[in-house]
Amino acid sequence: MNKNIVCIGAGYIGGPTMAVVAKMNPDRKVFVCDINEKRIAAWNSKNFDLPIYEPGLVDVVKEVRGRNLFFTTDIKKAVKSCDIIFVGVNTPTKMFGRGAGRASDLQYWEATAREIKGYAEGDKIVVEKSTLPVRTAAAMEAILNGERGTGGGERGAGPKFTVLSNPEFLAEGTAIKDLLDPDRVLIGGPDTPDGRAAVKEVCDIYAGKDSKWVARYKILTTNVWSAELTKLAANAMLAQRVSSVNALAGLCEATGADIDEVARVIGADRRIGPKFLKAGPGFGGSCFKKDVLNLVYLCESFGLHTAAEYWSQVIKMNDHQQSRIVSRLFKEMFNTLANKKIAMFGFAFKADTGDTRETPAGCVARLLHEEHVRLAITDPKAIENGRRDLADLDGIVWEKNPYKAAKDADAVLLMTDWREYPELDWEKIYKSMRKPALVFDTRNCLDAAALRKLGFKVLNVGK
Ligand code: UDX
Ligand code: UDX
Repeated sequence: MNKNIVCIGAGYIGGPTMAVVAKMNPDRKVFVCDINEKRIAAWNSKNFDLPIYEPGLVDVVKEVRGRNLFFTTDIKKAVKSCDIIFVGVNTPTKMFGRGAGRASDLQYWEATAREIKGYAEGDKIVVEKSTLPVRTAAAMEAILNGERGTGGGERGAGPKFTVLSNPEFLAEGTAIKDLLDPDRVLIGGPDTPDGRAAVKEVCDIYAGKDSKWVARYKILTTNVWSAELTKLAANAMLAQRVSSVNALAGLCEATGADIDEVARVIGADRRIGPKFLKAGPGFGGSCFKKDVLNLVYLCESFGLHTAAEYWSQVIKMNDHQQSRIVSRLFKEMFNTLANKKIAMFGFAFKADTGDTRETPAGCVARLLHEEHVRLAITDPKAIENGRRDLADLDGIVWEKNPYKAAKDADAVLLMTDWREYPELDWEKIYKSMRKPALVFDTRNCLDAAALRKLGFKVLNVGK
């Protein structure tokens, strides 16, 4: 019989992942639990006013909610009725005590493990979905099975738990596409009879009903520690590519080279490939910084100080990119920004999401606020989150309509590569702005030549 599934944590990872798991496994019941009642109410809302925005998500939820996907706050009931438990609670960077600013804060994780142990009546497979430091599964095992570490103390009666690692590689904005057609699915499990059986159970979920979901060759299995480390490593490598290209962008600006041309040619080398070579305002999002910091902390913990220093430069380069943007604006706007109006186009950390966690726009907005800039910020999806992020800054105007945001502005600072921005009527924008009118396109997504023709002064990253 197909086993039922519960996921604890109805966030960016748990919600979309389980919606697609339910879609592709109509013969299983899938529950998604969260301690946050408001969030669950939003997932259950009549008009599908879901707590997160992802292209295509609403359609999947419409198809499966109430059929075999259920959102609930009743963790106890869900744990009792399911044999496979995914855990996707948040693991933010720890802001206190040992490892502050770098290590993962695992308190929600541990609390969830104890809750699972408290409610479980039969054997369970527990699947780590959150990104976690290497060897967290060992701690999980110890809590769940009542043993000390992996040394194997007395295992009393009661349910047996097998802990697997199944990190999620989906990117926001393309979550549903990434889930339906992933490059790979990674499942790490212990090389024991129980471990191998559990890995097979989870492989079957991803294969989907009648093997219609992920092809078996794309489902990669490893030991638990490799799986845990791979997620950190994959994000660190991606972040490192962005920092590398941004480091080159500065050099392009200084020398007259063009970063888009350089990246196009570098990317034509099949050993390198064209993706993740776009210079910009630096990476944001909930994962990259957190995971690189976590990797740094792990390296330090194991005495690998040179490796730790290497990875920490990826973050340093990223932070530098944002202060460089403000320095260039400063220079181009006659060395004073005080009282000038800047219209920030885009606040989300990338297009197609309302997510603003670690968004470079937030950092730049704070730096501009320090210079007494009058900021008007517009974004198609992220105004609500942005307003919350910058609640401590006074005088910021949030404006849904980009034309209104740009009116009487001295500069437009494009921070997010929303598809609608190149489509705007830039002549109308130019006419409504103070002169000289500047556009700083930090995503290099606008037609700079056309803007110059209209009369704009145009700045780009890496040119
Ligand atoms: C987060 C991290 O960002 C990601 O790196 C990690 O791999 C998994 O956790 P995400 O889904 O984006 O992923 O987090 P978030 O949107 O904050 O959702 C986590 C959910 O867990 C929240 O809705 C929170 O209420 C819930 N939660 C947290 C619980 O249900 N129980 C808890 O004890 C703690
Ligand atoms: C990332 C990983 O891609 C995903 O596999 C993992 O599961 C979670 O973290 P996400 O944070 O949603 O996903 O977004 P991603 O598309 O990777 O972009 C991250 C940041 O890098 C964004 O701010 C984006 O604008 C920036 N970026 C990306 C660049 O500046 N240049 C690029 O070439 C690519």
